[in-house]
Amino acid sequence: MARLLITGVSGLLGINLAEEMRDRHDVIGVHRGKLVSAPYKLLKTDLLEPYAVNSILDKGKPDWLINCVSLADLEACDSNPGLARGLNTDLPGRLAAACKRRGVAFIHISTDAVFDGQKPGFYSEEDTPNPLGTYAESKLAGEQAVLMANPQAIVARVNFYGWSLSGRRSLAEFFFHNLTHSKSMSGFTDVIFCPMFVSHTARILVKMLEQGMSGLYHLVGSQAMSKYQFGVEIARKFGLPESEISPKSILSSGLTARRSHNLSLSTHKLSTALGESLPNFSTGLDEFYAQYKQDYPQKIRCYQQQTGFPA
Ligand SMILES: NC(=O)c1ccc[n+]([C@@H]2O[C@H](COP(=O)([O-])OP(=O)(O)OC[C@H]3O[C@@H](n4cnc5c(N)ncnc54)[C@H](OP(=O)(O)O)[C@@H]3O)[C@@H](O)[C@H]2O)c1
Repeated sequence: MARLLITGVSGLLGINLAEEMRDRHDVIGVHRGKLVSAPYKLLKTDLLEPYAVNSILDKGKPDWLINCVSLADLEACDSNPGLARGLNTDLPGRLAAACKRRGVAFIHISTDAVFDGQKPGFYSEEDTPNPLGTYAESKLAGEQAVLMANPQAIVARVNFYGWSLSGRRSLAEFFFHNLTHSKSMSGFTDVIFCPMFVSHTARILVKMLEQGMSGLYHLVGSQAMSKYQFGVEIARKFGLPESEISPKSILSSGLTARRSHNLSLSTHKLSTALGESLPNFSTGLDEFYAQYKQDYPQKIRCYQQQTGFPA
């Protein structure tokens, strides 16, 4: 059993990573005050405060740290580039350096959005990134800061879906909530991505630590699909009417931040290093549905301050 410190434990990845690992490892979650109780140890801190990085490492004394903190809202990054740089670039660099000094194995979570989407097909780790917009630029700079400060670190470019504390964080929840409330919605036909069920992402991240890996890896689902198709898959799995989802181009969405239209990543490097293929899409969707049937969304929601939930 290892001591696993998770920064950003209240986020979509953080909360599911903690849930997935709490019976196997000694989990300590770092949050800013959103959680009131959880079945693992919590440290409350704002990681942009001076000395916060050393403080969580002093208190947590981890073997492993997985950094799930981010400003991941593209429009918020464009309107506050200073905060985007602080959270997505500078903080990961400081965490990586502090982990290196202390001999703590470190994973930083990056994004599939570092490429411009112009390449047809899947991007490999060898392809040259060309980030569009503040979010992607700050995340790419974060990767570089991490690997410069700590070459033994792992940087994982991800894309995942699952149940979140707010009920609103993932694309799967967007489709699910609109469909269950018979609200019509659009799905983009011209944005292609590789969604992975977040608990699979969590399990593989820990496997990477257990195997002592280092360097840059793509960790996404093995199947590429449009965001529209993803919505249809959610509707079919939950027995909800897919006709409520209209196919639409992102070009007519009104979204202002620049986005790549092809987020497909190859996971060949990772599956070769792990010696196994990554879980397929339908297995992840089955588990996402099974969590719903087991009241998992309600269970994790009980860990937080009650701020309301989508009706
Ligand atoms: N979701 C996806 O499919 C996707 C796709 C590509 C990449 N990623 C990457 O995956 C990682 C996790 O994403 P996510 O979707 O789980 O993000 P998220 O749900 O937005 O969570 C972000 C976390 O960062 C915390 N945080 C923000 N500012 C902080 C501060 N000053 N001090 C301490 N904690 C702070 C948030 O705390 P509060 O709850 O208090 O705000 C929250 O726990 C990110 O690196 C993101 O770029 C995600």
